[in-house]
Amino acid sequence: MDRKISLTGIKPTGNLHIGNYFGAIKPALELAGEYDARYFIADYHALNTMKDPAELSATIREVAAGWLACGLDPENVVFYRQSAVSEVFELATMLMAFTGKGLMNRAHAYKAALQENAEKGDDPDAGVNMGLFTYPVLMAADIILFDSDVVPVGKDQVQHIEMAQDIAQSVNYNYKQEVLKVPQAAVQEHVAVVPGLDGRKMSKSYGNTIPLFIPEKNLRKLIMRIVTNSQGVEEPKDPAASQIFLLYKLFASAEEQTALEERYREGGMGWGEAKEELFRVVNRELSPVRERFNAIVSDTQGLDRILAAGAEKARPIAAATVKRFRKAAGID
Ligand code: ADP
Ligand code: TRP
Repeated sequence: MDRKISLTGIKPTGNLHIGNYFGAIKPALELAGEYDARYFIADYHALNTMKDPAELSATIREVAAGWLACGLDPENVVFYRQSAVSEVFELATMLMAFTGKGLMNRAHAYKAALQENAEKGDDPDAGVNMGLFTYPVLMAADIILFDSDVVPVGKDQVQHIEMAQDIAQSVNYNYKQEVLKVPQAAVQEHVAVVPGLDGRKMSKSYGNTIPLFIPEKNLRKLIMRIVTNSQGVEEPKDPAASQIFLLYKLFASAEEQTALEERYREGGMGWGEAKEELFRVVNRELSPVRERFNAIVSDTQGLDRILAAGAEKARPIAAATVKRFRKAAGID
């Protein structure tokens, strides 16, 4: 039997951080053992918000190098840039004809923009471009184009996958045949939302991230900046209420976790010491990844070659889907 297909994309809108690593990259790479994996850089999605060419081309390369440094094997995974597979845009145009405007009105990102404008007393659509408004259609095209069975994403993306399901189903219903595969979201329930330096969800938009590839010295400084309460050294502390411990659990072995948990409960350990221990395990895991990243990102030509080879593998798969759809639609 054919293996099932796993697909996901990351927008190159900034530095990858450890929230992206545990929420998206690691789970996707684990699936790549069992599924036929198709992973890509969603560069046209990033264009909605990034208008500086030098910055965008740098972040595209950084996200590509990031995937590779984290262990993506381009021999095993079809790895490409969205912009290199033009069938995505052809499919997106066809899907538009099956997408209700009302569906787009309900998308979280669009609604958040409207809400923000309302709070500021601005025009409802101020700053909203059509790329943002139609974002879920392009994302549906990314997914449907590659006959994806599962899409590993964080919880925040589930609505988009549900919209892709709706759109694919409308197509199939209209032509009374399974023209397009209906995808499923694969959300890692056990990976809690990774907390940031200030205790909120780690996110670029909150400026509270630990970037994956920062130099060791800066990593240590950031960890020392984690916000803590005013409990003194001698006081027993509650591990479950400490984001130092929540982060520690992501990087430490079971024995290390038990040992630190005991030290929290016993008292006698200050926050500074807990942060040093956190730094030790984070740096242990990230050092080799950082070294690989630095080597890969500086080899621009090598990266371009890998992405070009990935696009070569992606295009025939994409062309077959578009052809099937055009035939069903009477445009062949
Ligand atoms: P950001 O919030 O920093 O802009 P993105 O929205 O670009 O991150 O997220 C890219 C991927 O990483 C998504 O699949 C998202 O669910 C996942 N992700 C981002 N932040 C976290 C987090 N703090 N914990 C778990 N997963 C996350
Ligand atoms: N919207 C996703 C995000 O913001 C990125 C993305 C674009 C994506 N196309 C996709 C994810 C297709 C999964 C599948 O993180």
